Amino acid sequence: MNIITATFIYKDGKFLENMAIAFEDKIKEIEEVEKLQRKYPNTKVYEYKDAVLYPGFINMHTHLEFSANRATLKLGDFMLWLDSVIRYREELVNEVLNNQEFIFEAINQMLLSGVTTFGAISSFGIDLQACLKTPQRVIYFNEVIGSSPAMIDVLFNDFKQRLQESIKYNSSNFHPAIAIHSPYSVHPVLLREVLKIAKEQKFLVSAHFLESKYEREWLEEAKGAFKDFFEKYFSTNKPVTNINEFLNAFNDIPTMFTHCVQANEKEIEYINKYEHSIIHCPRSNRFLSCGKLAIDGIKNLLLGTDGLSSNNSLSILEEMQAALMMHYEKNLQEMAKKLIDAVTVNGAKALKMPIGKIEKEYFADFTILSLPKINDKNDIALYSILSNKQAKALFVGGKAIIA
Ligand code: BEZ
Ligand code: FE2
Repeated sequence: MNIITATFIYKDGKFLENMAIAFEDKIKEIEEVEKLQRKYPNTKVYEYKDAVLYPGFINMHTHLEFSANRATLKLGDFMLWLDSVIRYREELVNEVLNNQEFIFEAINQMLLSGVTTFGAISSFGIDLQACLKTPQRVIYFNEVIGSSPAMIDVLFNDFKQRLQESIKYNSSNFHPAIAIHSPYSVHPVLLREVLKIAKEQKFLVSAHFLESKYEREWLEEAKGAFKDFFEKYFSTNKPVTNINEFLNAFNDIPTMFTHCVQANEKEIEYINKYEHSIIHCPRSNRFLSCGKLAIDGIKNLLLGTDGLSSNNSLSILEEMQAALMMHYEKNLQEMAKKLIDAVTVNGAKALKMPIGKIEKEYFADFTILSLPKINDKNDIALYSILSNKQAKALFVGGKAIIA
């Protein structure tokens, strides 16, 4: 047994004082500090003064295979960016293949920023070994892509192979899962077959959805910059699906939809109704000039950094700081709390895993952040986000990774 205590412990939306947690790999008891010390007199006590203990943070969306990108890809416009991805993808992926340090460095950036669990979208499977080695929990989203009918078989087989390979390593720290690239890039037949596997074998599912105005224009009207893109690369001028058909395919699989910046109120309502979640990636959206997610009506809001392909770091703290700036019209303190919940309890709910809460029998995943002296408890979440460049300490499954 171990004991951990901090000035404040964030539990069920409240900041508790004078409390401590007894834990092994899971949380065993949450009690007053003195009570736990009396009950377990010879136990190691981790004590963090001027600090807040949170359930471990979850970065729900990243692409580690693009970790070699520094300034290769074009930012500022989604379509120019996508075009640069097609052009330089092989080069970037080869850099990672030749030097896995790019991926380890990216994972370490997350770790230092307090991330105990992350969702990795894997397009090629070359991030698998690094994801198996990291002490963090990983949701390993094997991605399927392919709108061309002629390519369905090949791409479906490649996807199944990667999925099978990742299933071998299934554990409480590593969760094979499924990612659908997007409505414009996945043929409905491929989508149907992959979602059949997801449903039968109960895989978690994630999908990019309505990231840019171009995507909406293409899916609704078969025009705009995507028309040129599809003519250039795929010799076609018609989308393979539409917004409603795509969304309907997920009706019996609660899914994490990434971005949704260009979704309208009706689509957000639909997403809420079917128990889906939305992963907000504020910096990525800004860097690709996709717009700003309307966060108000969203039932389960999550947060992600996206990959280094469309961000300048994988720090979840920097992502939260950016979100505070982007949503400038929101009440600052309320927004800070919303962001803390997005990376803890909301994320865990979407993952259906016993994490994201300080609760008995939940995994002892903790993110400890420094907190300067405050005068108003209502400022704790805000100053936790603003006062830290890195986490002060971090535990995964009861193990001190940063202490
Ligand atoms: C496609 O297969 O349709 C596709 C692949 C990559 C980017 C966009 C579309
Ligand atoms: Fe993404």
